[in-house]
Amino acid sequence: MGSEKQPEKIFPLGYEPDDIPVSDNPNIRNQLLDFILTSGPTEVVDTDLFAVMAKRRSTRKFSDKPVETTKVDKIIAAADTAPTAGNFQGFEVFYIKSPKIKKLLVEACNKQPYVDAPVVLVFCKNPSRVKFDFPDDILKKFAIQDATLAAGYSQLAAQALGLSSIWIGMFDEQKVMDAIETDLVPSSVLCIGYPEQTKFAKPRRNLKDLVHVKW
Ligand SMILES: Cc1cc2nc3c(=O)[nH]c(=O)nc-3n(C[C@H](O)[C@H](O)[C@H](O)COP(=O)(O)O)c2cc1C
Repeated sequence: MGSEKQPEKIFPLGYEPDDIPVSDNPNIRNQLLDFILTSGPTEVVDTDLFAVMAKRRSTRKFSDKPVETTKVDKIIAAADTAPTAGNFQGFEVFYIKSPKIKKLLVEACNKQPYVDAPVVLVFCKNPSRVKFDFPDDILKKFAIQDATLAAGYSQLAAQALGLSSIWIGMFDEQKVMDAIETDLVPSSVLCIGYPEQTKFAKPRRNLKDLVHVKW
């Protein structure tokens, strides 16, 4: 009786998706992921990918309005849909709930105060997951691309959900690692919340200066 095997938890202690499939069947591939991505009721503000891209702006002032768990679930799930080298998923996401750790991260991120945002995700490289028989520097290169792309997917998901974000690349790697107690090197810190105000798009280069056509 007491020896009955408990089903494996598919999410970590302290973070449980708002809603989970009725049956947790390990034989159904991506069951939880698909469930989160397709489940409601989540207010998806924009389903037009190009409109989402056009409207995304970095936000450094967040309102105090808490971010709903269903939205956090979708933002994290979005990261898990990103392509990764060899599908080895050479990255990890640290979801920072502790106000104390957020304060340490503010310090680690060159005292940028907005790192104390409603939702803080630290994307770390995990080259040990990348099981190609390539030299270490290649595996590390894959892991940074995996982690960066995943954070980009989360950033766009946040925008689609009516949230805004700031990508933090200016940090002391060791201080971030100490704050979140990991040996994994961070690649970005993504801070998310409801924006205090919406902004117009920032100017970019003309496409003709950006694209280099080689005939
Ligand atoms: C790799 C990278 C690192 C960044 N690091 C920081 C940072 O440490 N602090 C910050 O306030 N913004 C940071 N940003 C945000 C950029 O400043 C912002 O994306 C840029 O000014 C364009 O503005 P937009 O995002 O509103 O289009 C970073 C963005 C990227 C892609």
